[in-house]
Amino acid sequence: MRLLPLAVHRPHGRPAISCRYRCNDACSRPAPNPTDTTPFREVAAAALSRRRVLQAGLVAGISGTLAAACGTGGGAGAGAAPAAGAAGSAGPMPSPFGFAAVAPNTEDAVRVPGGFEQQVVIRWGDPVLPGAPAFDANAQTAAAQAQQFGFNNDFLALLDDPASPGRALLVANHEYTTEPFMIPGYDPDAPTPEQVAIGMAAHGMSVVAVQRDGASGRLTPTMDAVNRRITASTPMTLTGPAAGDALVRTSADPEGRTVLGTLNNCAGGVTPWRTVLTGEENVDQYFANGEAVADPAARAALARYGMDGGATDRRWEAVDPRFDLTREPTEPNRFGWIVEVDPFDPASTPRKHTALGRFKHEGANVRVGPTGTVAVYMGDDERFEYLYKFVSSRTHRAGDAPADRASNARLLDEGTLFVARFSGDAPTPGPDGGGEWLPLVESLAGGTGRSFVPGMTAAEVLVHTRMAADTVGATPMDRPEDVQPHPTTGRVYAALTNNDERGTPGKPGVDAVNPRPENTNGQVLELTETGDDPAARTFGWSLLLVCGDPAAADTYFGGFPKDQVSPISCPDNVAFDAVGNLWIATDGNALGSNDGLFAVPLEGPQRGRVQQFLTVPRGAETCGPVVEERLALVSVQHPGEADDASLANPISHWPDGGTSIARPAVVSVWRAGGGPLVAPGSA
Ligand code: FEO
Ligand code: CA
Ligand code: CA
Repeated sequence: MRLLPLAVHRPHGRPAISCRYRCNDACSRPAPNPTDTTPFREVAAAALSRRRVLQAGLVAGISGTLAAACGTGGGAGAGAAPAAGAAGSAGPMPSPFGFAAVAPNTEDAVRVPGGFEQQVVIRWGDPVLPGAPAFDANAQTAAAQAQQFGFNNDFLALLDDPASPGRALLVANHEYTTEPFMIPGYDPDAPTPEQVAIGMAAHGMSVVAVQRDGASGRLTPTMDAVNRRITASTPMTLTGPAAGDALVRTSADPEGRTVLGTLNNCAGGVTPWRTVLTGEENVDQYFANGEAVADPAARAALARYGMDGGATDRRWEAVDPRFDLTREPTEPNRFGWIVEVDPFDPASTPRKHTALGRFKHEGANVRVGPTGTVAVYMGDDERFEYLYKFVSSRTHRAGDAPADRASNARLLDEGTLFVARFSGDAPTPGPDGGGEWLPLVESLAGGTGRSFVPGMTAAEVLVHTRMAADTVGATPMDRPEDVQPHPTTGRVYAALTNNDERGTPGKPGVDAVNPRPENTNGQVLELTETGDDPAARTFGWSLLLVCGDPAAADTYFGGFPKDQVSPISCPDNVAFDAVGNLWIATDGNALGSNDGLFAVPLEGPQRGRVQQFLTVPRGAETCGPVVEERLALVSVQHPGEADDASLANPISHWPDGGTSIARPAVVSVWRAGGGPLVAPGSA
């Protein structure tokens, strides 16, 4: 049964209020990439489309309706595995995960498969630092918020403490605030300075020590000396060749090396040297009056990053002049970076790595190559933006001695930043196409750099990375979100969440890797570096998933029969479980269901068999997945966020129920009895 959507005002399923407070209405305005650099369009696209539609259409023709596809449950935790076997098989194929898929729904709850348990680990407003006051939305202060768990948790990391069995550090991003859902009586046109300060304190990150429960996936937050709040005011250091450049100097920081705060921290990654990388994503929305900047070149650069408007929605510029571009035109150049945080050292200063480029960073994920060279994979999440890779010049040291840590701390300051150009004319079967990594800039020891882009200095390439990538002819993609290498195969998985402007007048058309016009459901790419070397200059790629309604002819699930998969829409964050399956969190389900977390095998006869593991409450987005051997951890971000909702008229009371206000929170899920999360054939 196809479900009735909630009030939806965007083609990708997000309410307008989400767009306003999260991404500055990016989808309501033209994408800021004016270039059309797609090098290989129609011919390759036609070939790929024929193949996909042929496969999909054949399957769709025998697969029945979405009702059948969704009929793996009928309710959370109540479903049975589909009856049909895989192609060519006589009977039902056992679940590759050992759980029955959760059916699409619009409930105000986190729904998990039967036989699984869940726990809310920590909510917006819960204490993080000793002495934090109890949460009271009616009496919230900035001082309290700065000691409490921030708003709209997104990326999550769970790092075990080797010195203390059972103790782990939970690290969470707090991507953005939606003050009308946080502050009773909030007037968006005239926020008070205290309300602005509450919003700033609710941004950033949290580090919270948690104690594991040996018998379940339960995590208990503890008041611990390592606990930390990072906010929009926390001092950070700029590293790499753009540090100190005139492009990042401001009146408050004439040296151009110290920035206050991190903003719009979306996804991230954990490094092999046990730090956390966090991506500053839609930072344009915090900076006002780009349209009034006098210098045409500066104005054009701001516009390329979406900063070409007037007042912001949060009005921070009325309280802090650094958010007013007519007063501090270079302040936004200090945001839009990958930030590295050492969660084990609460006194450490987070570092913004300019060598990794400046764009709307979704996240960053690291792979160490056979020679110790480190590759960092990154996506720029906006329509028609690009996929990037940084390759270190130095090599990773596996030890944990001070000298090893000091060496690894420099890994992301010296190396080469590349952007991807795809081609797509390979014959079937096999990879769908190839591609090359185009060098943009090499960052050198001592904070110097070498530009590969004519007419741009190294610092300019790093600060205006989008413009550099335009120049070299990168392939405009359908919103690259999480890009993550598989821990054992090294293949790289990229979630391309959607692009409602693909193929519209004046915009790039479809191509092999972005094969659908007005793409509302997104796709998942699989990249294989040439020679399995993360430092390679070329790669091959395949479309693993072309998401959407399995009954639709334009969807594709790795070739697996589509009557046995869960519908999936708008893939966003990816993760891998202990046995190498891919897990995908969604954002903005265009099929009318709540968002969720899905698992999909990458190997064997069930490759492409997407199964939904959980759904999140009304108005929420699933993000930050951590999938361990015995638990899955998700961020439930912005529950209750809808245009016709408010604090006085909520559509969600999750997680506390009754008449409570909705609170973003972290949820842990585990198999009852504490067995492995993935137990093939047990359902
Ligand atoms: Fe914050 Fe790209 O999602
Ligand atoms: Ca995201
Ligand atoms: Ca991820």
